[in-house]
Amino acid sequence: MTLQEFFGQLELLVCQASQRFAAVGDAAALEAARIEFLGARSGRLKQLQKALGQLPAADRPQAGQRFHQARQQVEEALAAAQARLAEHRKAIRSTELFDPTIPGLRPRLGHLHPISQTIEQLKEIMGRLGFSLADGPEVEDEWHNFEALNIPPEHPARDPLDNFYLATASHLAGGDAGPPMLLRSQTSTVQIRVMERQKPPIRIIAVGRVYRPDTPDQTHSPMFHQIEGLMVDRHVTMADLKSVLRMLGESYFHGEVHIRFRPSFFPFTEPSVEIDMSWQGRWIEMGGAGMVDPNVLRAVGYDPEQVSGFAFGLGIERLCMRQHGIDDIREFFRNDVRFLEQF
Ligand code: DAH
Repeated sequence: MTLQEFFGQLELLVCQASQRFAAVGDAAALEAARIEFLGARSGRLKQLQKALGQLPAADRPQAGQRFHQARQQVEEALAAAQARLAEHRKAIRSTELFDPTIPGLRPRLGHLHPISQTIEQLKEIMGRLGFSLADGPEVEDEWHNFEALNIPPEHPARDPLDNFYLATASHLAGGDAGPPMLLRSQTSTVQIRVMERQKPPIRIIAVGRVYRPDTPDQTHSPMFHQIEGLMVDRHVTMADLKSVLRMLGESYFHGEVHIRFRPSFFPFTEPSVEIDMSWQGRWIEMGGAGMVDPNVLRAVGYDPEQVSGFAFGLGIERLCMRQHGIDDIREFFRNDVRFLEQF
């Protein structure tokens, strides 16, 4: 074999090897091609290497260099084919993993917070008793939170340390301060708002947040919820109050409930009572109530000689805690889903 013939053979081999490797479609065909061209014993490159040894000694260095180049080209063609097949296998595997017939994963839906659930139940129960829903702002003036409720300026309940008074924009600007405003400390404010714009008979509830600067502990939170009830008509009595509260309790707890009144004092009721409810043999303090004080009726333009009314205010967290056996009010506001998802 002359040097020229040797070069021709090398070129032909590289060309054929490149075509074969580019065409193989699976691992077995690739392996067969590898053995044919690069096989260590009788591969075609090996055979040319033997021919190289037969060339005249003077031609060998040149021939050896070209041989080396050719082997590199064939090995690159093999590597390219291996990479191409690996890509292909990966693509097949990912389409096999996607099974369009598997039902989708349902996204987790939230549900109502236990306090919201209690509120919904209370509204529904009181609605059946003929009480409609009334509303008022959480930022109140002193008239609705105190004065109209017969709480005079020197009354301790108005202490700035016991209320969240607000610095309004005009306070902050240092200008004309305007009337003091505060976060309402009780939903009794809504009684006034309703009576100011409606004539008796009145049967309403108001539900919402109230605020007091209490340090949070097991039974206190600076924000909590109350349900307020108000009924004003001719001949409304404490007996009506007691039976409405009993029906409310029995509907909410789904069982026999007893109501106990303990004498108390609120500026806006006379007489005033603390309400205890017993369910499943345990007494719990639920809130306050009483007959609307004549001063309150007069403040909204009613005639205490003509109409009378009862009012009550219950803690919503208390009701919810008693129902579910929750012993720490802070759980409601931690927003730990492991707690919330139980309800
Ligand atoms: N507002 C009272 C409080 O937050 C609760 C209350 C007592 C409401 C007597 C009333 C009532 O309507 O008649 O402590």
